[in-house]
Amino acid sequence: MKALFVASECVPFVKTGGLADVVGALPGALAAQGIDVRVLLPAYPAVRAALPKSAKTVVLGKLLEGKQSGKRPQLIAAKAAGLDVLALDIPQLFDRPGNPYLGPDGRDWPDNHLRYGALSRAAARIALEGVGGWRPDIVHSHDWQGGLVPAYLKLGSAKERAAAPPTLITIHNIAFQGLFPADTLEVLGLPESGFTPTGLEYFGKLGFLKAGLAYAERITTVSPTYARELASPEFGMGLEGLIAHRRADLNGILNGIDLDVWNPESDSQITANYAVTRLAGKAKNRRALAEHFRLDGNDDAPLFCVISRLTRQKGLDLLLEALPRLLARGAGLAVLGSGDADLEAAFAAAARDNPGRVGVVIGYDEPLSHLLQAGADSILVPSRFEPCGLTQLYGLRYGTLPLVARTGGLADTVIDANEAALQAGVATGFQFAPVAAAALADAIDRACDAYADRKLWTGMMRRAMRHPVGWETSADAYAKIYGELAEDAARRKGA
Ligand code: ADP
Ligand code: GLC
Repeated sequence: MKALFVASECVPFVKTGGLADVVGALPGALAAQGIDVRVLLPAYPAVRAALPKSAKTVVLGKLLEGKQSGKRPQLIAAKAAGLDVLALDIPQLFDRPGNPYLGPDGRDWPDNHLRYGALSRAAARIALEGVGGWRPDIVHSHDWQGGLVPAYLKLGSAKERAAAPPTLITIHNIAFQGLFPADTLEVLGLPESGFTPTGLEYFGKLGFLKAGLAYAERITTVSPTYARELASPEFGMGLEGLIAHRRADLNGILNGIDLDVWNPESDSQITANYAVTRLAGKAKNRRALAEHFRLDGNDDAPLFCVISRLTRQKGLDLLLEALPRLLARGAGLAVLGSGDADLEAAFAAAARDNPGRVGVVIGYDEPLSHLLQAGADSILVPSRFEPCGLTQLYGLRYGTLPLVARTGGLADTVIDANEAALQAGVATGFQFAPVAAAALADAIDRACDAYADRKLWTGMMRRAMRHPVGWETSADAYAKIYGELAEDAARRKGA
């Protein structure tokens, strides 16, 4: 079975969030199921730099129409970081350093529709014609950037429609939908006939994600709870009707994590390695972390951490509101994040106002995120919505008990330390609901109480570290969907 991933970011080349972690790790897990995955990515400078000079290139036909059609696309096929990469090289569109989506002014690149439209059309081309003799049995798009692939395949000629492999789209975050003016259809080579409410159109605009959800054979999202939430107006962000309509084709499959990259026993980016049977090293990481963030490192109360984009989704304004309670308990807080200017400023101010108690690093720092996971006692994830969330999974693996909002994948991966769970000996963290400052503050209180009982806390740490967070089960679930799609396609061809 051959599958083509279509994505806009991928670890270790380019990352703005969890999507990159998933796209980088899932192919390896699928390989163990006998699935040959190639990952189609834009050839951003960071991707190009990671590919061997000797990589083969293949010239593709035009991917855009009109004046834009001169942009000569090439595919660079190479193995890098254990992945089979197909990099779409169109320098005018992708030779831009830094954040893949945003220009130097911090706003979306004005030609993102061309950039990810071309990516999707390249995927459709590979799906139909193959590349270097390799043709996928399944095309698996991730988020809005790959959303047009199913549309290109479904809106092609009768011959193309008959030859097209089945498609799956995974929703990593429905808040990002890729909406563009209707007049972009032409340059993208999409037919007017597809611009209907059951097709490409989203209230007068072209919707990339909308198109994917309308035309893909199957849809997945990254946790069972988010799959249910998506059908409601509160979470569906305007696409709840379509989601509800496609409920039978939608599955929630939890993300896993790369157990080699995130392993306290061997992580080279932390101060001291430790294991579930050898917890002593964690205290050394705690000291190193306290030093780095200039915290007093009080041992009598938990040291909480945050590793996050600072956006409304992540609910960190609630943490600022709950901060007095955390401080009243003698706890500490280390924050690593970047994003909205007002949140960055508010956290920087909290650090200034509470020296020794609150430490904040504004920025993106992968090695430091490992030290935080290793050194903190608990990781806070108070998200308003969270399709899956990965930092709580890293927290479990590092014995850094997650304290999370009861939503999406957070609800599915953390077992709250309520009376019943404690008695049954299954608790791995703390959940709070509703997602509001008072409930968060109460959960922080509960965590502080639990921390004071060393035996209880250590037991929870051990259990958290043993909680399965790898890809195995979820890779099985994806492989099953691929198998069903391939069977359906074979049946259709035979009929
Ligand atoms: P999202 O994709 O919504 O941002 P996830 O929890 O799925 O949320 O994934 C976030 C990923 O980005 C994790 O790997 C996390 O460690 C990482 N991350 C977020 N902010 C930072 C930061 N400031 N520095 C380093 N890593 C970060
Ligand atoms: C998105 C979501 C996050 C999820 C990640 C990977 O960025 O916000 O919850 O873990 O995608 O699927």
